[in-house]
Amino acid sequence: MEKVLFYRCEKCGNMVVSLGEGVGAISCCGQPMNALVANSTEAAGEKHVPVAVIEGEKIEVNVGSVDHPMTVDHYIEWVALATGKKVEIINLKPGMKPKAVFTFDITEDEADEIEELGANCEGQPCTFSYDDNPAEKIDVYAYCNIHGLWKAEI
Ligand SMILES: [Fe+2]
Repeated sequence: MEKVLFYRCEKCGNMVVSLGEGVGAISCCGQPMNALVANSTEAAGEKHVPVAVIEGEKIEVNVGSVDHPMTVDHYIEWVALATGKKVEIINLKPGMKPKAVFTFDITEDEADEIEELGANCEGQPCTFSYDDNPAEKIDVYAYCNIHGLWKAEI
């Protein structure tokens, strides 16, 4: 994806993900939604900037080099992975670890499971695998309900 933007409605909290370079206005609750601007450095960065480690077929993301709190009042709502091929979002809840694991490339067992589930990939093989150079740019995002959007590049 050339450009991934996250929009949030300031009234209701609804989130919208935009893929591409479109300049059209997005609105919710009768008012324009503004694209969130990701932080990557700041005093509180150690608890917000996602830290990603590639472990074989998995990309393990921890939010913060020091774990971010996961209380009802203050927590990481979601973690997202964006590459040239896909955007994947994992929702988190209070009480969970500020952690998300993404599949970098699926195993045969996972492929069989997807087939058994009857996944429909519009005539394309349902592999969801990355055959691009894994060194391509991978962006990882974390959204804190209080401190907003944070981003790191792998
Ligand atoms: Fe926070």
